[in-house]
Amino acid sequence: MLPELTLVEQEMTRFITANTTDERLKESMLYSVEAGGKRLRPRLVLATVTAFDKPITTGAVQVAAALEMIHTYSLIHDDLPAMDNDDLRRGLPTNHKKFGEALAILAGDGLLTAAFQLISEAELPSDKTVLLLQKLAQAAGTAGMVAGQAGDIQAEDHPIPLSQLQKIHQGKTGALLTYGLLAGGILADQTDYVLERLAELGHHLGLAFQIRDDLLDVLATTEELGKTAGKDAAAAKSTYPALLGLAEAKKALATELAQAGTLLTDLAQTATFNPQALQEVVTALAL
Ligand code: IPE
Ligand code: IPE
Ligand code: MG
Ligand code: MG
Ligand code: MG
Repeated sequence: MLPELTLVEQEMTRFITANTTDERLKESMLYSVEAGGKRLRPRLVLATVTAFDKPITTGAVQVAAALEMIHTYSLIHDDLPAMDNDDLRRGLPTNHKKFGEALAILAGDGLLTAAFQLISEAELPSDKTVLLLQKLAQAAGTAGMVAGQAGDIQAEDHPIPLSQLQKIHQGKTGALLTYGLLAGGILADQTDYVLERLAELGHHLGLAFQIRDDLLDVLATTEELGKTAGKDAAAAKSTYPALLGLAEAKKALATELAQAGTLLTDLAQTATFNPQALQEVVTALAL
């Protein structure tokens, strides 16, 4: 793991430990945060800062940690019986299996709220803090991740148009990935033009990531995934593989990744930008 990602993990543990007064709630929050995961979203924050040749400051680590806390909350709630009803996450029993539904709901609430507290107290100039908080609320909230999750559960058991599925994916998955890139750009003092290009990149990356997740749900094993395979078909979810078939879904993934690659090349021509670290993230998403 990148040394900076270890700092992100330490910051999540430090912040939750220092700011959670109920011992069982603290245990439940730390259980899911410390279960691991690919840490893609904090990786995007740090890779973007580095791409613009800026140092990884404490403030950047704190923003990356906050984003991973929001993502982890979204997984805890996504797994609840009322949503996807999953028993396994990050190779361990899901939070509600281990702590019960009430504490799992509260652990999610706690991580969501703590993420905003962490950025509000981060070592950053206050104008950046406000912008980072605003963008995070927009990404995580009712026109972003939460909206996508609402769309996802309402799109079970019946086919929907591809354009609607893309909107759901952009919300439930694309919004937080895009935030990782945008936050990196904001931390690296980039112009609105560059931030718009980063948002476009996040759009392709987000769609690619969810198409890949849905393909892996069909193609990979429970052991490889650390979460139960084959759940989407069992729940009659609307996914790329379900709507288009495996071959077309794979093509769509490749197309989105190629578009992401083109945007990275374009960015390298318009700004002081070394695309290498982000290109590695894009390449690793190919199947
Ligand atoms: C899973 O995200 C939820 C989706 C948006 C598909 P990740 O695949 O990034 O989960 P972790 O963080 O590695 O566990
Ligand atoms: C979840 O999508 C997206 C969020 C948690 C916001 P999925 O339901 O496909 O994620 P997994 O497969 O359970 O990780
Ligand atoms: Mg889900
Ligand atoms: Mg799920
Ligand atoms: Mg999935």
